[in-house]
Amino acid sequence: MTGASQSVGSVAHGSVLIRSVRPYGEGDPVDVLVTDGEIAALGADVDAPDGIDVIDGDGAVLLPGLVDLHTHLREPGREDTETIRSGSAAAALGGYTAVFAMANTAPVADNSTVTDNVWRTGREVGLVDVYPVGAVTVGLEGKQLAEMGMMAAGAAGVRMFSDDGKCVSDPLLMRRALEYAKGLGVLIAQHAEEPRLTVGAVAHEGPTAARLGLAGWPRAAEESIVVRDALLARDAGARVHICHASTEGTVSLLRWAKEQGINVTAEVTPHHLLLDDSRLQTYDAINKVNPPLREERDKIALRQALADGIVDCVATDHAPHAAQEKCCEFSQAKPGMLGLQTALPIVADTMVAPGLLDWRGVARVMSERPAEIVGLTDQGRPIAVGEPANLTLIDPETSWVVRGRDLASLSANTPYEAMSMPATVVATVLRGVVTARDGQVTR
Ligand code: DOR
Ligand code: ZN
Repeated sequence: MTGASQSVGSVAHGSVLIRSVRPYGEGDPVDVLVTDGEIAALGADVDAPDGIDVIDGDGAVLLPGLVDLHTHLREPGREDTETIRSGSAAAALGGYTAVFAMANTAPVADNSTVTDNVWRTGREVGLVDVYPVGAVTVGLEGKQLAEMGMMAAGAAGVRMFSDDGKCVSDPLLMRRALEYAKGLGVLIAQHAEEPRLTVGAVAHEGPTAARLGLAGWPRAAEESIVVRDALLARDAGARVHICHASTEGTVSLLRWAKEQGINVTAEVTPHHLLLDDSRLQTYDAINKVNPPLREERDKIALRQALADGIVDCVATDHAPHAAQEKCCEFSQAKPGMLGLQTALPIVADTMVAPGLLDWRGVARVMSERPAEIVGLTDQGRPIAVGEPANLTLIDPETSWVVRGRDLASLSANTPYEAMSMPATVVATVLRGVVTARDGQVTR
């Protein structure tokens, strides 16, 4: 925490002067003065109040703090692989000021005792706003709706529900969940995977999996649920959010649904923007993820869809796993890869470098849209006087090399080991409190 920070309730508000930064990467560098958690002044040569902490931005890009709608923090239950503290540190170092923690913990976050505990622990850690996601069904079993209302009414004020890791595959139950969510004003996020089509599946169904002898996960397993849930949302007059869209066909269906005026939103992961199933040649389960890495044409369609707004936002699906759960036979390994500290550089690489998005576009897909989708009013805000100082400073020129063991996560399952990343998060600021700076968390 900065010396100038103070505690207001249980939330710290800080003061800091950020010199020489370019909001959204546009125009001449300006200074940004933050006092008591809000942007107080913005312009050339702002006077420094006595004793204030100063960050020299050196012309860095300034964006609103990043918001991740899809993070697995593993607490409670698998604190050997990630905790709310270690995941929050990874998030702050990755430029995030808010993350949504998925419900597939042990015990499952299907009641307000668990969701309120996650929320409180996130507050105590104080590196990033941790919003627990509630389960849609009891125990993620897809049989009985969880007490969504109790979770929404609890201290955590749960605003997003998902059985992620599993699909709510029963269409009637999904229909009821959407109706109930509409009444509560909350969002259902679907892991779109028709389970009957993916029994035993470990890799994208295509020529690569066929050659390698890996059981295939067909595109239709995702797409059939996407279209089904769009129709259910239409009929219920409800909203549905599609987690980790991974196929060209899903992009077409999202376009169609949006054209019909159906209230559907979607996210794409950094790994589906960067990687494809050609990575599987080595049988290294570090590349195993759910939904699986697809083909080149899916990757290209997803990048274009993100640029066009058909896919609304980027979400990491940060999924830490222990070494013994990844360094084993492909079919036995758990699906998932780390994402929080590599997401922004991958978006810079796959979207900014080829001209598909500028930095204002990055602010849209990594901060503004995710905040809007879940209705956060203090995140994804404009960089302007009077706005909450949730900010990320990025040096787009300085590259760094990924080393799993150096990431803040308690796990090291990154598929990007030894890869050079083209942009660096210089600092992250949460309500004026510097949470990460020069690769170190501050608390
Ligand atoms: O790859 C994945 N890992 N996909 C999911 O849906 C769940 C996640 C996990 O919890 O490990
Ligand atoms: Zn999922």
